[in-house]
Amino acid sequence: MAISMRRNLPERRATSTTDRAFDRLLPEALRRLSYMHWTPIEVAIRATTLLCPSSGMRILDVGSGVGKLCMVGAMSSEGLWYGVEQHETLVHTACELAGALGVADRTRFLHGDDLYNPFEVPLFDVDHGQHLLDFRLKVAGVQDRLAALPERARVVTLQGFGGVMPRSYELLYHERIAAAGLDLALWVQGAAARTITEPS
Ligand SMILES: C[S@@+](CC[C@H](N)C(=O)[O-])C[C@H]1O[C@@H](n2cnc3c(N)ncnc32)[C@H](O)[C@@H]1O
Repeated sequence: MAISMRRNLPERRATSTTDRAFDRLLPEALRRLSYMHWTPIEVAIRATTLLCPSSGMRILDVGSGVGKLCMVGAMSSEGLWYGVEQHETLVHTACELAGALGVADRTRFLHGDDLYNPFEVPLFDVDHGQHLLDFRLKVAGVQDRLAALPERARVVTLQGFGGVMPRSYELLYHERIAAAGLDLALWVQGAAARTITEPS
């Protein structure tokens, strides 16, 4: 499972030539969201090695946007990549892109609200007390979902998820990706996590 939170980001990340090539495949209106919202390819490749170390794994990207992480994952691993996204337009774009890139058989994109990013509520004209309450409820909901995942489930977070991982998880790997200014972490569920060794 992959969860990313874009908060406290550097002003504007430099984009690589491969990221710009990916952006050119997107409808123009979605391209301008890239630098802030879609995972840089370098980071997506690192996340793929953590989430999908062997063939036949199934990975869920919670908040999949235009499907960039799933697309990179499907092109660079032998797993089956699922994305769930709250904006239907983004789901359509992801499905079209997966077809164009030849990974439609290894990706699935679903439209839905999966409890994910509490900071996506409007920043203005809101009741801040209610906002804080909603945020805490959503984080608690995510924590409950994470705690219920089976033994050895892998969770990769990018900039955390707004809360603390349940105590049943082991932090197996952490990396600061300097070029992107992002923190990537791999958590594994359950006591068996201690027996897993991650390559550096
Ligand atoms: C930072 S973007 C990440 C995009 C993608 N994971 C990637 O790697 O390029 C976060 C995405 O999560 C979606 N999102 C936020 N809250 C959500 C929710 N409750 N359910 C489904 N999607 C959500 C947003 O619409 C946005 O597209």
